[in-house]
Amino acid sequence: MIALIKKAVPRSVKTFYRHQKSLLAIVKDFCYDYKRYRKHYASIHLKTKDNLQAFLIKEYHAVEKGMALRNARQGFGVERITRLIRETEHYINCYGYDSTTDITLKTLKEYCAFDARSNTKANPVIPMIEKLLAKTEILDHVNNGGGTKEIRKTDIDNSIHFDYSRFVRSRFSTRDFTDIPVDTALVMEALDDARFTPSVCNRQAWKAYVVDHSNPELKQKFLGVQNGNRGFGEYISTLIVITGKLSAFFDYERNQVFIDGGMFAMSVVMALHARGLGTCCLNTSYTAKKNEAFNKVMDLDSDCVPIMFIAVGNLKEQYKVAVSARKPLAEIATVL
Ligand SMILES: Cc1cc2nc3c(=O)[nH]c(=O)nc-3n(C[C@H](O)[C@H](O)[C@H](O)COP(=O)(O)O)c2cc1C
Repeated sequence: MIALIKKAVPRSVKTFYRHQKSLLAIVKDFCYDYKRYRKHYASIHLKTKDNLQAFLIKEYHAVEKGMALRNARQGFGVERITRLIRETEHYINCYGYDSTTDITLKTLKEYCAFDARSNTKANPVIPMIEKLLAKTEILDHVNNGGGTKEIRKTDIDNSIHFDYSRFVRSRFSTRDFTDIPVDTALVMEALDDARFTPSVCNRQAWKAYVVDHSNPELKQKFLGVQNGNRGFGEYISTLIVITGKLSAFFDYERNQVFIDGGMFAMSVVMALHARGLGTCCLNTSYTAKKNEAFNKVMDLDSDCVPIMFIAVGNLKEQYKVAVSARKPLAEIATVL
């Protein structure tokens, strides 16, 4: 009977119905994204450690940038720096010292030196910074610092003597690998390089989870909530789950997590390629329902959103890939 009714309904009505259904699905997914963003984003209250950390990074970076400008303005950023000092104290009181406090304090220290060099008027934030520095600790061993840095053109020139065009054109998504497990140390080296991916205000709001060959059950669970590994999932040695952290973004940055996360993922792919490993990005274009299934696989940071998986494997001596031909340059780039 139902089959008969279905047959009797005109095609135009069916198309209309399907279209409405897909619009409703989009609305439902938008609502899901909204609720998720509302829960985690860095609101004015800076509720969590990650929110506060994102604020410190955004603000110390504004100071670094200000000092690096060709015509750095004397005594710039008084209002911002005043709040940065307050929030840094708050962060240290709540969560102690870490690489973020270290870089923030080093940047503020350099600001004092910068101000002493260039500012003729008394700057009200200098005594505040000095007070903060006197009662806090810079952990020199944690990182190589914040502030500004002199770069020589020759340093750049000396680091670009390789055939980049050939390198990028030699990478293909690989869906066939040897049975030899990937060395996790190599993957970690690649991730170490990927840390140097640029990100909005240097917030680095990404986190990679490496499911290596010794954990096939977990790998299978993740692949089970991914649409697009049929026919080759079983050959993947290591699966990297690339996620982005919503807690690092402010009210006007709702899409930034996917931009920065995507750039990070690209760096990981290239760093693995540079080590002679095969990779294939695997989408996590999830509906709300699918995203919930992903969340259930294991407890990742609660503010994490999936960006993509990266399948990794050792290359065979010879194998086939899809060409994935590219559009001509003229179709994707216009000189204005
Ligand atoms: C975000 C993203 C998601 C992807 N998802 C899948 C996927 O689910 N399954 C798959 O087989 N390939 C996937 N790919 C690989 C693309 O098909 C591939 O990158 C594209 O065809 C270009 O080919 P190339 O990587 O060989 O240059 C994905 C790529 C990206 C960047």
